[in-house]
Order: sequence, then structure tokens, then C-alpha cells
Amino acid sequence: MSDSTERFRALADGGFVDSNLPLLAVVLGSGLAGLADSIESPTVIRYESIPGLAASTAAGHRGEFLLGQIAGIRVVTMAGRLHAYEGHSIEALTRPMAVMAAMNPVAVIVSCAAGGLNPRYRVGDLVVIDEHISLLHGQMGAVGADRELPEYQALERKRAGALRCGRPTCDETFTKIAERTAREAGFRLCRGTYLSVTGPNYETRAECRMMKNWGADLVGMSTVPEVVLASRAGLRTLAVGVVTNMAIPDSPATTTHEDVLTVSQAAGMNLEKVVRAIARSLVHE
Ligand code: 6GU
Repeated sequence: MSDSTERFRALADGGFVDSNLPLLAVVLGSGLAGLADSIESPTVIRYESIPGLAASTAAGHRGEFLLGQIAGIRVVTMAGRLHAYEGHSIEALTRPMAVMAAMNPVAVIVSCAAGGLNPRYRVGDLVVIDEHISLLHGQMGAVGADRELPEYQALERKRAGALRCGRPTCDETFTKIAERTAREAGFRLCRGTYLSVTGPNYETRAECRMMKNWGADLVGMSTVPEVVLASRAGLRTLAVGVVTNMAIPDSPATTTHEDVLTVSQAAGMNLEKVVRAIARSLVHE
């Protein structure tokens, strides 16, 4: 693990013009990599060029870090991520997040495409994930628990006990900024509970009913491992889901792949506004 952090640090540091600026880490989910393209002359680091990191194989996931500046701060983004359904252990699929966390970012924003279980949601909505239900629990043990990492030990002491509180993964200040951004720009942004599954298949009708009864508003195949790692590392975190399709049995609405792409492109622009607003708020901290 330390091999990968050192290699990543060496490559990343060369890419930053002013390494005194605060650093924001961002994970860009399926079809949401627009923000990465708005970084001027980014440094690009492919996952597989870091020892211990796997290449991304999922469609629509580029599998690279892009580093540079936005809104007056440094940003390291993951354009595309690794998933359990690609055959990765939770420990392996969170390694890209682990190397970003070892760069000491002031905050982490995680985004994902998700299915909407809450009938009040509409395709294209942004949803701040203020709670989650994990169906990956049995596999989460090792995530962020690398006791050899000095970064982990230091941060764990700082935040001892934090994981026992109700909402370890959702920064309230960032949520407020996201809500204000949505109000001012005129797009829909809700709060909700995200349920994580391994995939790769979407849910059956019966599973959708079960998940809704459990109190889940959104379902997806990612995000929880990354926010748990960020949270265990003591980092301020905001997770945002984009409703790319509704996961409601017998819903009259049907979605084509093209619809999903159009939706994630428009929603990606809204997500970018949220990320920029949070970045601006971090400039003077
Ligand atoms: Cl409907 N289900 C899951 N598991 N992941 C998704 C999704 C649905 N829509 C986008 N990602």
C-alpha cells in the first residue's frame, strides 16, 4: 500500500503548480466525468500506472486520476471507479480513494449514478446521500483499516469514536452549500438514503419493493466503500447520487440508454456547480 501512496504522491506533486492551496478529492461516477474535463491542463494518471491499483473495466468509467485546479483550489479527481462486480475486493476497489486520502485533502466529494426508489424523485435529480444502508457489510472490514499507514493512525486518533455517530458520512455544511447552489441555479436536489449492492445486475421487482420498504431512496453499486474509507480517515465527506433511472416496479416510465446519457450529462453540469461552490467555500478556510 505504501508503494502506491508514494508513487501517487510523486506523480501528483509534480502536477500541482501551487501545493499550498487546499486539496479537494472528487470521485466522478458513471457518465459524470464532465468536471474532470473542465480542469485546465490536467495531470492525468492512469490507475494501472500506480502499483497495486487495477485498471477500470466498466463501460463509461475512464479509470484515471485528473489533477489540477478549479475555483482557486487544487483538485484530484477520479474519473471512473472500480466496482465489486468487476471482481475486486472492497479493499482493492477502495485503493484509488486510499491514495487520494493519503494526500491529505481537506474534503472528499463522492458521486454516483443511482436508481431512484423514492417515487417523489425524478430522473435527473441530484440526491445528497445523508444516510446509507450497506449490503456490502461483510466485506468492509479491511477498508481504511491499514494499521501500517501512518496517515490512518493519526487520523483515527483525531476522530476516535466518530463512526459511532448517526451520520458519519455527510457533512452538513457541504449539504447546505449544495442546497443553496441548487436553489440559485434552479435544479432539483433532495436528501436520501442510499442502498449499496454488488451488482452488476439491476434489481428484480421484488428487490425494489424490499429496498423501498427498508427505507432506501436510491440504489447503486458503489459509493459506500469510498465514503466509509474517507470517513475512517477523518475526512469531511459529501456523497451525491444522480438519479439516472427509476427503480420502481410497474412504473410507466421507461428509460433508454440514450436517455440515461442525456440525463447524466445534464446532471453532471449541476454536480459540477455543487463541486465548484464547495471548492470556493474551501479557498479561505
Ligand atoms: Cl436501478 N440499480 C443499481 N443497482 N445500480 C444503478 C441503478 C439501479 N441505476 C443506476 N445505477
